[in-house]
Amino acid sequence: MALTVRIHETGGPEVLKLEDMPIQPPGVNEVLIRQRAIGVNYIDIYHRTGLYKLLGYPVGLGMEAAGIVEAAGGNVTHLQPGDRVAYCGGPVGAYAEYRTLPARYVIPLPASVTDEVAAGGLLKGLTAYYLLHLSFQVHPGDTVLIHAAAGGVGLLACQLARHLGATVIGTVSTPEKAALARENGCEYPLIYTQEDWVEKVKEITQGKGVDVVYDSVGKTTFMPSLDCLKRFGMMVSFGQSSGSVPPFDPTILSQKGSLYLTRPTLMHHIEDYDHYAAYAAALFDLIARRILTIRIGGLYHLGEVKQAHIDLESRKTTGALILQA
Ligand SMILES: NC(=O)c1ccc[n+]([C@@H]2O[C@H](COP(=O)([O-])OP(=O)(O)OC[C@H]3O[C@@H](n4cnc5c(N)ncnc54)[C@H](OP(=O)(O)O)[C@@H]3O)[C@@H](O)[C@H]2O)c1
Repeated sequence: MALTVRIHETGGPEVLKLEDMPIQPPGVNEVLIRQRAIGVNYIDIYHRTGLYKLLGYPVGLGMEAAGIVEAAGGNVTHLQPGDRVAYCGGPVGAYAEYRTLPARYVIPLPASVTDEVAAGGLLKGLTAYYLLHLSFQVHPGDTVLIHAAAGGVGLLACQLARHLGATVIGTVSTPEKAALARENGCEYPLIYTQEDWVEKVKEITQGKGVDVVYDSVGKTTFMPSLDCLKRFGMMVSFGQSSGSVPPFDPTILSQKGSLYLTRPTLMHHIEDYDHYAAYAAALFDLIARRILTIRIGGLYHLGEVKQAHIDLESRKTTGALILQA
């Protein structure tokens, strides 16, 4: 039996239930993982609240974890028992001591990457990676605006943008988060609770606007962000921590400077295993070379999952949150 977090209905953190569930032996193309560190991501909150629909209640939660392969089913060639591994994506259900899932989501871990770093950095790091290389390729001299700059994805996006030679402007809620964002490559952390960040962006860019906005906050930041972009700038909307972006007339994109808009998801970028493995290898290399540092902002036992969700939702956290199995 394995301790597993499941929800029987959507709702607040109280719907998260810790239950003893049978361990599923791996079928063909599957592996069984003894999990050691589990990543908590904002998407887990969307799943819990029902903003993103899940099928077949009761259902597990969680999209990423690291651990050791306990058993491999038929046809699995790239993994064997004893391998250290991590995964993100695939079916939900990472909040558990043991996990059986399709092997195509599972990546072997190099010795240089600890379980905590993998569970805190794979999903968020791959997200930062595709956002800055594929959604919009950041070049030296670009100016980028990153919302929630001290968050899990935000800190990594700041580090990577700086590494790519960009000037980084970020938004954060508190002076403590501003200091952390600055340490992670954000030259201009703007405290949106204290200052008019749109005006500040115009001032910093001398009225030109930024090349790209990476917006994971959604409802409260989407529209004002369009006013921060230069002509032909790129709006990358990749989340909605403050709520969904309200419907709008696309003509507004032309009025504000023939802007581009994309709304990408990591899952499409890692659908192909070869791409997934290549991006993960690039990410692990950036970590090994200390270009990217995964900041663990909070460690919780699996049984403390409710607290982890409360903390993440209430904007108390910085960096990545980990559940220890
Ligand atoms: N599309 C994709 O492929 C993809 C992949 C991964 C993550 N994401 C998205 O990226 C975002 C960041 O994920 P994460 O796990 O790294 O979380 P996170 O950024 O660590 O946490 C969310 C942060 O958003 C900010 N925020 C602003 N308004 C908020 C509000 N009303 N309620 C809650 N938070 C608010 C807070 O920072 P301040 O206190 O500084 O305001 C908070 O700390 C999420 O929206 C997630 O869905 C998208």
